[in-house]
Amino acid sequence: MSGIEINSVLTENRLFEPSAEFVAKARLKPDDLKALKQRAEEDYEGFWADQAREHIDWQTPFTRTLDDSNAPHFKWFSDGRMNVSYNCIDRHLEKNADKTAIIFEGEPGDTRHISYQQLHDQVCQFANALRAKGVNKGDRVVIYMPMVPEAVIAMQACARIGAIHSVVFGGFSADSLRDRIDDARAVMLITADGGTRGGKTVDLKEAADKAMSKGCESIQNVIVLKRSAHDITMQEGRDHWWSDVVDGMDSHCEPEWVNAEDPLFLLYTSGSTGKPKGIQHSSAGYLLNAIVTNLWVFDLNDDDIFWCTADVGWITGHTYVAYGPLAAGSTIVMFEGAPVIPDAGRFWKMCEQHKVTIFYTAPTAIRALMKFGDEYPNRYDLSSIRLLGTVGEPINPEAWMWYHTVIGKERCPIVDTWWQTETGAHVLSPVPGVTVTKPGSCTFALPGMDVDIVNEEGESITEANTGGYLVIRKPWPSMVRTVWGDDQRYIDTYFPKFGGRYYLAGDSARRDEDGYFWIMGRIDDVLNVSGHRLGTMEIESALVSHKAVVEAAVVGRPHDVKGEAIVAFIICQNERPVGEEAEKMVAELRNWVGEQIGAIAKPDDIRFADGLPKTRSGKIMRRLLRTIAAGEEITSDISTLENEAVVAQLQGET
Ligand code: PRX
Repeated sequence: MSGIEINSVLTENRLFEPSAEFVAKARLKPDDLKALKQRAEEDYEGFWADQAREHIDWQTPFTRTLDDSNAPHFKWFSDGRMNVSYNCIDRHLEKNADKTAIIFEGEPGDTRHISYQQLHDQVCQFANALRAKGVNKGDRVVIYMPMVPEAVIAMQACARIGAIHSVVFGGFSADSLRDRIDDARAVMLITADGGTRGGKTVDLKEAADKAMSKGCESIQNVIVLKRSAHDITMQEGRDHWWSDVVDGMDSHCEPEWVNAEDPLFLLYTSGSTGKPKGIQHSSAGYLLNAIVTNLWVFDLNDDDIFWCTADVGWITGHTYVAYGPLAAGSTIVMFEGAPVIPDAGRFWKMCEQHKVTIFYTAPTAIRALMKFGDEYPNRYDLSSIRLLGTVGEPINPEAWMWYHTVIGKERCPIVDTWWQTETGAHVLSPVPGVTVTKPGSCTFALPGMDVDIVNEEGESITEANTGGYLVIRKPWPSMVRTVWGDDQRYIDTYFPKFGGRYYLAGDSARRDEDGYFWIMGRIDDVLNVSGHRLGTMEIESALVSHKAVVEAAVVGRPHDVKGEAIVAFIICQNERPVGEEAEKMVAELRNWVGEQIGAIAKPDDIRFADGLPKTRSGKIMRRLLRTIAAGEEITSDISTLENEAVVAQLQGET
């Protein structure tokens, strides 16, 4: 197994019990959790059927819970009909029309409060505008927007009319946007003239224009939100301002009652090979896990103010911003900007100002803010916070303890949630009023989730602290349905081992002597940089598409803030550049990758050599490259290498 191990967690034994105060008010007490787990164990399908009846409003109730006749393409609640947007908005209107659904803060500090009634009206108007522009049920709509309420409105409007959205993170480049539009054959693009992040304007429309300048033939219309005062060009007939298309639209829009299995959205994510794949999610099953995990893990109650800092371009921004908390009738905070603008106190200032009760972010943000010192959080009143969460990557105990003491004031449970784009919602996580946590462990499987760690033969590993493949043995409602347009890739990626019986997560993990799960890293060539998933192959192919590069190998190296940093080893067409020439080339290649994929994929470190270390069969020795990238001593045998001198070059010594 070639997983990247984060070993700092190995000796962590501290235990943290939820406070009596938290337990007293918690939605799930130990007996409730036990009852849920027991029900799921005794009657798995019955358990999910109960949950689906309790938490989803159906237009046509389902009679069939799980259909596994075409496994591993599973169907849930497949003869039921419902609408996700109706479940997120309309059903709250009778009692909670005036309740705030979204508290928005822009990077410059502008704020807006949007009630459920206002959200309903704006979603309906926009949904009517989409219909008026010819968008039909099942059509794909790409959303490439800043983190503003209109991004959620656009997603909800697609859901309302049964169109399938594909949100592309605003940090992705024109080329990445084009690939995703073309793969999905999207008929519409929704974007903005620009967004503000880190004090700069993000040129979304310019990137969109570049994407559409070659390719993107399927796009018929582009809707552009005016967010910045940025000068852009609008193409007559194709491009329309958001404000114009909603003008005069009815604030009522009959929801399209879709089949439970109709796709709600695609979300492209990186894998170990080739281009990113379009993860396809269903409507009802997806929504169900989104709702129950918000209730179980975030303990969401009527008076909570929930802030998940993820961008809607990622799965976390789907399940814990745009859908789950709204379906649970909660109030969410959305923030457009960067956490250090104007200074490293921004998150904490916002927590105080908006009286945030539940705060959910990535370890990378915690580590970055921790570095600025305690004085920033200590300036603000954080007493409204009652629960903290983390997601996206392993959290090191040091960051966990800082979060616990400096932000949570030792009062707030921390939920370390393990899940993936493909799982749709939390899988392994503490239940905050029940689970005794250990810093760095995502603890146990949630009710209805049959998670195991197995060996190469698919046998459960019962020995404590022995690593193996993390698998999910039974299907669950919010699981990925397929890879858009490529059923075979879905099977090959997620069910390649163990006779196709188990979903293979792609992570390695171990269980300690108390049965706690610890994620050890990926088993494939996927990097986790600041909680974002990037395929090494994807970055390598971007690099080799540069005319000066003949070969490239990309590996990760541990990084104290980002989790992993990207290191690229390059063989050039011409002579190996050195000195100033090498510096110029590094800058050029970093920009090139930024253009091909996006700024998040720019290598942190680029080294040039005359050759790459390969095995006799010609495979790049990635493990050796990782050792070199980390600056560690080489202990493996390299005497068989054809050109030992390259090792010194790769180490940057010559
Ligand atoms: O390696 C695991 C890591 O992030 C991967 C999923 O990435 P993505 O689909 O982009 O979704 C991120 C947000 C859910 C996983 O395969 N990962 C996610 N959460 C954790 C984690 N690693 C350790 N601990 C976590 N809590």
